Amino acid sequence: MSFLHNKNILLGVTGGIAAYKSVVLVRRLKELGANVQVVMTESAQEFITPLTFQAISGNPVHSSLLDVEAEAAMGHIELARWADAIIIAPATANSMARLANGEADDLLTTICLASNAPLAIAPSMNQAMWSNRATQENLQTLKSRDIEIYGPASGEQACGDVGEGRMLEPEDIVEKLEALFNHQLLSGVRVMVTAGPTQEAIDPVRYISNHSSGKMGYAIAQAALEAGASVSLISGPCALQANNRIQLTHVVSAEEMMTAVHADINDIDIFISVAAVADYRVKQVAEQKLKKHSDSITLELVKNPDILSSVAALDDKPFSVGFAAETEKLEEHARQKLVSKKLDMIVANRVDKSDSGFNSDYNSATVIWGDDSQRFEKSTKSRLASDLLQLIAKHYINNKR
Ligand code: PMT
Repeated sequence: MSFLHNKNILLGVTGGIAAYKSVVLVRRLKELGANVQVVMTESAQEFITPLTFQAISGNPVHSSLLDVEAEAAMGHIELARWADAIIIAPATANSMARLANGEADDLLTTICLASNAPLAIAPSMNQAMWSNRATQENLQTLKSRDIEIYGPASGEQACGDVGEGRMLEPEDIVEKLEALFNHQLLSGVRVMVTAGPTQEAIDPVRYISNHSSGKMGYAIAQAALEAGASVSLISGPCALQANNRIQLTHVVSAEEMMTAVHADINDIDIFISVAAVADYRVKQVAEQKLKKHSDSITLELVKNPDILSSVAALDDKPFSVGFAAETEKLEEHARQKLVSKKLDMIVANRVDKSDSGFNSDYNSATVIWGDDSQRFEKSTKSRLASDLLQLIAKHYINNKR
């Protein structure tokens, strides 16, 4: 069954010659079991009639923001909420510019602003318009907002030019849309994730810890759930809420995390260690609050157990994925950890920037396995988590064969 089965796809059609190809796109989406609503801009209707899309999609076509009747049937906010994904195909240079500017002066741009659904565009324009700096800058803006860019392809254009700017073929767009919903790769698989910091007590009121917020680990746990896995999450202290279908265990120290992990590890297929576990703990935790009698004090620290290494060393070890938090030589240091901890994969991320890594909603990463690696540019942690889970699932499945 296609991942698009039963998915609500809102197709935006803007005014380009490739609009005729979008009819084939709707037909293919329908064949795969998707529900399709079409929103056309005014100029799109110069290229193709709404009636064509209505006949193929089986739904009335939406085109006006200020049409009382249409709003009463399915208003723009309702359409925005309805969509599981929005794809604009073709997306003209003008529509890209208007999206980049956050305009909301017609139905399509308003829906795009009002919807939380993933948004993808399939650009289609003359090659010179595509390579123009203005379009390329708009493209970067759209990418920075996590808008998916499908294509464009290269080749002969309707105007006779040859170059980049052709809309992707409907089959290619469908393939990419399916990948958006490819959530069941881990159906029946049991995934354990560690997240957040650990706190190592100094005395009853003080502790040693780090800046981990838990956001990356919780996003990984959620992405595993969406990929169909049953998920347990061992979390250090943090202020986040997990999906109630995730089995959540709270711990404070590294030793508690170690105990919680090993309590269930024999039932686990994939272990993903996102927690920023304190490498050291205080050797002798003071029973009473330490008094500030002297100008300096010395705390003796002893090494904490390495939880991830202990899991990867098990005879019947789960597929083991580590995270490497680095401030320099990202790939070199991560690769050393991959080897020394005997991991299947490691996700290397930088933790020396304020706009990603620790305690940010954003992150970027390089995933390393064997002699290979794959780079994931900066995106929201939830988007990154979902991309990472797809890659991890692929390797886990290959590994089992
Ligand atoms: O929580 P956020 O604010 O969202 O930030 C996310 C993050 C930066 C914490 C996360 O993306 C991340 O990098 N996690 C790993 C942090 C870390 O401890 O990295 P490390 O390079 O020191 O450790 C390597 C691996 O060994 C990690 O998978 C770690 O979980 C594991 N480890 C480390 C020490 C230890 N005693 N036991 C372990 O299991």
